[in-house]
Amino acid sequence: KLQSPGDDLVFFVNGKKITEKNAEPEKTLLTYLRRNLGLTGTKLGCAEGGCGACTVMVSKYHPYQNRIIHYAVNACLAPLCSLHHCAVTTVEGIGSVASKLHPVQERIAKAHGSQCGFCTPGIVMSMYALLRNNPQPSMHDIQEAFQGNLCRCTGYRPILEGYRTFTKDGGCC
Ligand code: FES
Ligand code: FES
Repeated sequence: KLQSPGDDLVFFVNGKKITEKNAEPEKTLLTYLRRNLGLTGTKLGCAEGGCGACTVMVSKYHPYQNRIIHYAVNACLAPLCSLHHCAVTTVEGIGSVASKLHPVQERIAKAHGSQCGFCTPGIVMSMYALLRNNPQPSMHDIQEAFQGNLCRCTGYRPILEGYRTFTKDGGCC
């Protein structure tokens, strides 16, 4: 098939440049992360945008605001082809036990906010994206950031208690 160099899909995953010569329009970011890149931290929970197990952060230059914007995205619904010139951050990109855990990872674990663990990467990435935009959120901001994340195990309380420590006053009134 004839293809010009301008047809390459170029984007970044955890800081690494990816040039995809044969991007398939029907492929989602979640499938690409897990099957092509072997990054299995991002999970498939529903494939319809409801559970947040596939949450990653996307960063890109916003031409009108003239700045980089960061936002949480459902990788199960994001077409790979929509990511040209974007930077994707997955749970593996912010920290690990092999190197150093990010405070968002450490606090959910130590606060007993992870039981089966399957929802944890998505919750971590929703919290991480919130902190990138708002380093001192209120409890209301934190609760709002998890509107699209479901957890079947914890009852949510320990997750919110662990992340309360990121608020300005530690969540105290
Ligand atoms: S897998 Fe459930 S929101 Fe993407
Ligand atoms: S810890 Fe099991 S779904 Fe959240």
